[in-house]
Parts: sequence; C-alpha cells; structure tokens
Amino acid sequence: DIDQNATLLPVTAGGRIYPEYIADGALVVDDVTRCVVEYGHSETILPKYANAEGKPAIKVHDYRDKLIMPGFIDTHVHYPQIDMIAAYGEQLLDWLNNYTFVTEANFDDPKIAHDTAQFFLNQLLANGTTSAMVFATSHPLSAEAFFAESHRLNTRMITGNVLMDQNAPEALCVPAEQSIRDTQNIIDNWHERGRQHVAITPRFAITSSPTQLRLAGELYASHDSVYLQTHLAENRDEVAFVQELYPNHKGYLDVYDDMGLLGRRTTLAHGIYLETPEYERLRETGTQISHCPTSNLFLGSGLFNLPKTLGYTGVSIATDVGAGTSLSMLTTLSEAYKVQQLQSNQLSAHQGLYQITLGNAQSLLLDDKVGNFMPSKEADFVVIDMKATALLERRMAQTKTLEEQLFVLMMLGDDRVIEQTIVAGQSRYRKSAV
Ligand code: GUN
Ligand code: FE
Repeated sequence: DIDQNATLLPVTAGGRIYPEYIADGALVVDDVTRCVVEYGHSETILPKYANAEGKPAIKVHDYRDKLIMPGFIDTHVHYPQIDMIAAYGEQLLDWLNNYTFVTEANFDDPKIAHDTAQFFLNQLLANGTTSAMVFATSHPLSAEAFFAESHRLNTRMITGNVLMDQNAPEALCVPAEQSIRDTQNIIDNWHERGRQHVAITPRFAITSSPTQLRLAGELYASHDSVYLQTHLAENRDEVAFVQELYPNHKGYLDVYDDMGLLGRRTTLAHGIYLETPEYERLRETGTQISHCPTSNLFLGSGLFNLPKTLGYTGVSIATDVGAGTSLSMLTTLSEAYKVQQLQSNQLSAHQGLYQITLGNAQSLLLDDKVGNFMPSKEADFVVIDMKATALLERRMAQTKTLEEQLFVLMMLGDDRVIEQTIVAGQSRYRKSAV
C-alpha cells in the first residue's frame, strides 16, 4: 500500500517487462562504493544491520509513504537549448536557423557554457533524471564545461562536441579535421573518467560535409567504448534535403551507414520517416532509436510508430529539449502515451516506467551500472511523492491497484512529484519545503 509504506520499484527485464514492487521496502547503499548492497522487505533487511541492542548500526533514511524508483535516464537532450526552450512558431529547419543556431553561437563563452551546464544539470536532477545522453555545441569548451560540472556532481553522462561544417552559421562551423581533433581531445580528457562518457556527435546529415561524416565514422571505428549520437528522419523537409545532398544514396540512413556511423553504440534521435530496408539495417547493425514525443509534437514533426520500431531494434525515450517542451521523463511518457493513442497503440505504465529506467539504460549499454536496484548497481534513485499536488492526492485516493496508481503518476506526474534525487548515494536535489 503506497499510502502506508516506504516502497521500492526496480523494474527488471528478463525478455519480458515486469515490475518489481516492494511495499515497506529497504535499500542498502554502501558508503564507500556508493553502490547498492541489497534490497528487500524492511523486516528482513533491517535486522541484518542492527547492533546488539537491536538498533540500526547503519544510517537510516526514512522515506515512509514515498515511492522509490531508479533514477530516470534521458537518452537525447541538448543542454545549450535550455536557453531557447519554447520558441514560437516554426518547424525543424526554420526553428534551427531562427532560434537554435543563434543561441548555440553564445557557447564560445566559457562562462555561459559553465553557467548553463550547471543550471541544466540541476534541472535534470529536479526532474529525477540522473543519467543522460546530451548534445553540447560545436565549441569544444561547451562539452568540457558540461563534463566538468557532471563530474563534480558525479552524474553518469554522455556528451561530445557537436560536429558541423556546412549549412549553418559560420560561428558554429568547425572544419572537419579540426572538429575530429577536438573530439579526440575530449575523449582523451573525459572518456570513462569517473562516470563520464564521450559520444561522437555529428549534428545530422545536413550540417556535416561527407568528409566530416567519414572522419567521424573512422574515429568511431577506432574506439571500442565511445558512443555516437545524431539525428535521423525527423521531418519531411529534412529528409528531402538529405535526398538532395545525397542523390546516389538509398535513403537517409544509408548516408550514415556508408560513413560508418551505425552500430550498437549509436543512438539516432527521432527515426519517424523510415522505409522497410532502413528498419532492417537498424536491426542488422544494432543501431538504437531515441523517441522524442514532446519534440515531435512541438515541432509538428510527426507520429513515431513505437511498436513497429520496437519490432526491429531497441528504442529509448527522451525529452529532446529545447525542441522538447519538458525535462520531465514523466511528462515525456504522458505525451508518448498520447502519440501512441493517436495510432491506436497503447503504452502501459509498466512499459513506460521500465523504459525511462532500465529500458533506457539497456539501450545505452549502461544496464550493468544503472537502471534498477540489483546489488552492485550505482545508487542513483528518486524519491517520489505520489500525492504531491491536491489533484494527485485526490485522484490517488480513487485508485484500486498499483498499476492504476502508476498510470496516474505517468499521466499527471512531473517535477512536482520529485521529492529528492540521490546520485551515487549522495543527495543532489531536495524539493524545498513550501
Ligand atoms: N536536427 C538537427 N539538429 C537538431 C536539434 O538541435 N534539434 C532537433 N530536434 N532536431 C535536430
Ligand atoms: Fe535533438
């Protein structure tokens, strides 16, 4: 009973999706390794850590009445775009030219990069997100500033300098060879330092020359554990422009394929407009798709077919701020549900909450480290107040099952339900008392 007891909800996958729910649970975190030692019912766990007088021999934090879940994971988001989220009236290509590139050009200033990275990371934590795959800008210092701040907070993050050398303002273009040297430097400085990972980050096929894409592919092939992220088939005009730039390729995905950008460590955002051979290539290469529902609605990009794409490859879910309109993974799930409803598909609370935790971790190959509460996973978790607002409290009182409660949380929850966010065993966000 969520109303009466502290609760744990690690969602586990074993081929199928099933939630694990423990009423009156306890989660034991090691102070030194900051990893999960074990979890279970408090009456079986707590006696193991009691002294001779039966008192706890370890520090106990009491989250009675709250729901504890693994930290949320956002697989595609642009930190510099927090400064232009909710920009009016355009679809993708005009939105990029009129708003996005203008804002991103400010990130040659280390102070702006540092301040924005700090603000953005704190916003992620206020939304219960503890890991993310992130775009910086084409300025190497924008990625460096983000890593420095993430390293300080000890959040597990993936980012890189954005590769752009054409069809964009000069201030954002970096010549191909230089941009690849920049990425190599960032790999040397940050890849697998603490909880940080580097992603080679060509923006998309329009803003990189064939040379830049090819060099990106070569760099990707020369590193085992580095990631690659870019955008794919988000908007019809974008797809047509790529077709114009590459008339001899079989389609948008084929450009990336030809340049060596596909693989199991590659995450492509959107993937709305794909043909059957492209879905098949995604499957053959293990390339992952990141679904960004609030962005696709905000820019009028289109409706992502979730069950179809899942039939071919791994799909994660992401905010894509600043085209996305919320950093909340709960709000993102709520919009994902509606996008599927428009196509007569469903997205259950179990599937949704699995996706923003272990599912996204699996897509990013981070599920040996984060995503649920298995022993030895890093202790990233969120404390959720299911009754954070008057409406939630009233609606929750009407629910009869856990699944119903979780569905209401998925549809109505946002940053207001996040009471506290713990990163590697350390509290990094606490909702201020009103
Ligand atoms: N395609 C290329 N760049 C971007 C971007 O910044 N946001 C979105 N939504 N799509 C893109
Ligand atoms: Fe994006």
